Amino acid sequence: MSTLVVLGAQWGDEGKGKITDYLSKKADVVVRYQGGDNAGHTVEIGDKKYKLHLIPSGIFYEDKTSVIGNGVVVNPKSLLKEIKYLNDLGIKTDNLKISDRAHIIFPYHLKLDELEEKKRGKQKIGTTVKGIGPCYKDKVERSGIRMCDIFFKEYFEDKLRSNIKAKNEIIEKLYNEEPLNEDEIVKEYLEYAEVIKPYIINTTAFINKSVKQGKKVLFEGAQGTLLDIDYGTYPFLTSSHPISGGVAIGSGISPFDLKKAIGVVKAYTTRVGKGPFPTELFDETGDWIRERGFEYGTTTGRARRCGWLDIVMLKYSCAINGFSGIALTKLDTLADLKELKICTKYKLNDKYIEDFPASLNLLAQCEPVYETLQGWKLEEIEGVRTYDELPENAKKYIEKIEELTETKIQLVSIGPKRSETIIREEIL
Ligand code: GDP
Ligand code: IMO
Ligand code: MG
Repeated sequence: MSTLVVLGAQWGDEGKGKITDYLSKKADVVVRYQGGDNAGHTVEIGDKKYKLHLIPSGIFYEDKTSVIGNGVVVNPKSLLKEIKYLNDLGIKTDNLKISDRAHIIFPYHLKLDELEEKKRGKQKIGTTVKGIGPCYKDKVERSGIRMCDIFFKEYFEDKLRSNIKAKNEIIEKLYNEEPLNEDEIVKEYLEYAEVIKPYIINTTAFINKSVKQGKKVLFEGAQGTLLDIDYGTYPFLTSSHPISGGVAIGSGISPFDLKKAIGVVKAYTTRVGKGPFPTELFDETGDWIRERGFEYGTTTGRARRCGWLDIVMLKYSCAINGFSGIALTKLDTLADLKELKICTKYKLNDKYIEDFPASLNLLAQCEPVYETLQGWKLEEIEGVRTYDELPENAKKYIEKIEELTETKIQLVSIGPKRSETIIREEIL
């Protein structure tokens, strides 16, 4: 059995798209198991740069099957836009499957996301405003509409009309805003339904069959561990389970069938949106990392907050996900810095702590305690293809992370392209 999840160990944007695409070469099936088009995964192939939001990053291999699992929330409009975007660039999407159990995002989810954020004022989460939270809310509240519902046109229309009416009541009465146009939405979504139908299957059965047949199934996480609804920095997080525990729920395989988990770790830390971030840099170095690493959101274009690598957070992430290995990305971005810092513990009220706190009130008070390491030059790592060729200080940085997290760094990424990847230990 060969199953592997590739997921974000931090606050998202670690380079999951690049790593998933890289490992997809050896996979048969690539599955997204949570999140929606709030994700922005970049894949660079040759001189082309692709941006994906919903479709798994395995799509560039025509012979692989790409699956949008039941744990994903799907905006049909975004999905069709993404299919067209890929097709126009010559990328085929014939092997795309969508779960019949996946919940659908409707315009009222987007509208409510926007209105709820406005209402939160200073306490706003800084969501991507893609309707993710409101859609998962409906799923849990049991009023959501799923992909399997679109095969029953009358039922689908009735349910959609009744949901629009219910949401319009909230939009009008609670927020004093104009109601959404029921007929327009119904017409638009009935049209989408017809186009999407051919992609919809029982993906749980498909994935389980693939696993049984010994096929290599790769699960691609979106967001990151610290954005997980249970384990992240609540409430500044997303509404799904990016962690390895989310794979079984979001795809329908048994938890005992997931054999490996690769944590994608950016060589420093970034975060989009609000919430405490102990190692955040507010100085020139933070700005320098942002520019050098081009740390601007793939989905929203927002500037990402940047800071040093946080081992307290990473150890927590390793424990929750049970990483069998780490893929360390963007090592090149840190090149040319004279010194680098790694946060090894937090200082909280005159005590040192190594456990990531649940309370954001405590997290906000945590002061990072750093170890300083020496830097390396960009010219020393450009074109490097083997671990041995890396400059000594870069190796020291990598080995320090391994030592502190007690997890093997199996892959080191030194650029966005497939070729800019150093394999230390085969992953799949
Ligand atoms: P994801 O959401 O985890 O897939 O990450 P994003 O695609 O949002 O952000 C990562 C960005 O870094 C993308 O622009 C990637 O092309 C780029 N990237 C990935 N790995 C590397 C790397 O090792 N070095 C550099 N310089 N860029 C990288
Ligand atoms: P990828 O897959 C980074 C953040 C948002 C916000 C919070 C909640 O590209 O790593 P949501 O719209 O999900 O309700 O927003 O989560 N967020 C991400 N941050 N990378 C992502 O995805 C993210 N998806 C959501 O910025 O703080
Ligand atoms: Mg991203």
